[in-house]
Amino acid sequence: MVDGNDAGLETHQPADERLSPPESFIEQANVTDESVYEEFEKNWPEAWDRAAELLDWDEDYERVLDDEGDTSRWFTGGSLNACTNCVDRHLPEQKNQRALVWEGQLGERRSYTYLELYREVNEFAAALRSIGVGEGDIVTLYMPMIPELPIAMLACARIGAPHSVVFAGFSADALAMRMDSADSEYLVTCDGYYRRGDAVTLKNKADTASASVDPDVTSVVVDRLDGYECTLGEDEYDYGSLLDAHESERVTPVERDATDDLFRIYTSGTTGTPKGVTHTTGGYLSYVAWTSHAVLDIKPEDTYWCSADIGWITGHSYIVYGPLALGTTTVLYEGAPDHPEKNRLWEIIERQAVDVFYTAPTAIRAFMKWGEEYPQQHDLSSLRLLGTVGEPINPRAWKWYYKHIGNENCPIVDTWWQTETGGVLITTLPAVTDMKPGSAGPPLPGISARIVDGKGNEVPPGDGGYLIIDQQWPGMPRELCEGRAWAADAGDGAPQLEDTEWSYPTEDGALADEDDYITILGRVDDVINVSGHRFGTMEIESAIVSVDGIAEAAVVTGTHDIQGKAIHAYVSTEDDAGDTDALRQAVIDAVEDAIGPIARPESVVFSPDLPKTQSGKIMRRLLEDIANGEELGDLSALRNPEVVGEIESAVRSD
Ligand code: WT7
Repeated sequence: MVDGNDAGLETHQPADERLSPPESFIEQANVTDESVYEEFEKNWPEAWDRAAELLDWDEDYERVLDDEGDTSRWFTGGSLNACTNCVDRHLPEQKNQRALVWEGQLGERRSYTYLELYREVNEFAAALRSIGVGEGDIVTLYMPMIPELPIAMLACARIGAPHSVVFAGFSADALAMRMDSADSEYLVTCDGYYRRGDAVTLKNKADTASASVDPDVTSVVVDRLDGYECTLGEDEYDYGSLLDAHESERVTPVERDATDDLFRIYTSGTTGTPKGVTHTTGGYLSYVAWTSHAVLDIKPEDTYWCSADIGWITGHSYIVYGPLALGTTTVLYEGAPDHPEKNRLWEIIERQAVDVFYTAPTAIRAFMKWGEEYPQQHDLSSLRLLGTVGEPINPRAWKWYYKHIGNENCPIVDTWWQTETGGVLITTLPAVTDMKPGSAGPPLPGISARIVDGKGNEVPPGDGGYLIIDQQWPGMPRELCEGRAWAADAGDGAPQLEDTEWSYPTEDGALADEDDYITILGRVDDVINVSGHRFGTMEIESAIVSVDGIAEAAVVTGTHDIQGKAIHAYVSTEDDAGDTDALRQAVIDAVEDAIGPIARPESVVFSPDLPKTQSGKIMRRLLEDIANGEELGDLSALRNPEVVGEIESAVRSD
């Protein structure tokens, strides 16, 4: 068994069951021919033409994959612009079709046709140029789920300025760290947003971050909050006034090489600082367009809704770039699934007649808990396909989703991927492959995945091991294209692979069955996944140990009914610091300041010392067992077994 965050694996064993897609779905699906798997296998990498053909290229590429030496470059010689592909090219046929539909937190609704999107993106691209943004400059977008966010992304893409979107729930420190790391001197943000009807300010956090970033930051501020006056200083521009100043302007899209950067996104790694992941223009865009077509079955006439936040990769790939590249109508929702009522999402699906809905298991578990009466109040018959992403979905939640949302009439795609992979790598093709609840499915055509032991040898079906991807794919990030640093840096939780083989260690544990269906068991490194959000334990621990009076900290996850996992912090204090409520609050505040409220620990347990091995390493697995109330077994490997009882009683008295 893989050593790692494997608590609760039993509940994720796939059900011993197969379901075939309904005929009505197969009849209309984008990809229906089983031979697509073979086609990619026989004709790899040239078969990836199929993905590139979904785009318009300014200059045709010469090679599909150029992987001589230590680098991998997709679609070399080709050039294109991502904004042209997502907007301009749809104008001749679809200018009056809705591109974006926005449902605001206060019940507001706004939509943009492709023509309206084209106009605003052009005006904002002209505005960005006028404040000094040039090709290659990284523009940070610190914004909630408002239409101006995808508009700003597309405007950046139009002028060849990679964006770096920072989730609006992140703290000022987290924003500053990302701006510094990207050397980003431009920031687009807004005064604030609404969460469950209450105004949340954002500009103050952006100001704090900008003040600590070197050199000076030029900002654009969108006015989202009603009746909230925000005074703008030097180097700060109002979004609306900039658009007025550039009314009707058009900006020629910058021709970008396929291998040029489209955007940077930060995610959590195993160190205390965020990990930058850079996606390329040709490879990434082809890959998200292809997977939106083949997996999400998106058609131009669809209304498609992915309920993620654009601040994460899911939103980049499957709210903005993939769906818009295919010319569909993509829904953007600002707000919570249970505000004002627990029927909110179903009400939106009915009103907008959503065809394809893509969400996270954590949301599905909450829907289950609230009960089927909420979806039952609505007509969900427009739905054709359902998707899930972000963490394993247990068969019970899968079946609930299938029955109560899909009316047993919509295939479900359980899509495995990561920030690093750009798009989905492992899932079923909804009209071609049967579904097995609880298992993500086989690797997609052209994707090669293996489950190996610590020495890199393939393990037999049914055995757990490390999931590795052993062939390149167009959506791979630039960091993986350029040599093998990531593989070499992979820590204890990575298999030892031969130098000669190209491979990407995903840092997930998994098992495959006889049919090559892959069940994901969870991370094997120091990355934790809570409600589908990714954090590094080191990131959280370094925030905690910065608190006066705290000596050491270990962060682990425990199972949680709704979130899947919850964060528990175990801390030891310095001699003179007591177990006080103030200290507990200081720990929580430190995490919120360094990362944001989404990383807030569910519990903070004080102990005079943390359990350590003879060599002095904190035994996280033991703390995890304590958090899950499990049998602890043999403690003889511990240097200080006496602390275990103290920690257990501290947990109980909490
Ligand atoms: C980690 C990546 C993919 C975009 C959102 C998350 C886990 C993701 C699944 C799935 C089981 C999954 C993995 C992965 N994960 N999808 N369908 N089944 N686990 O991207 O924040 O980079 O997190 O999410 O553990 O490594 P991310």
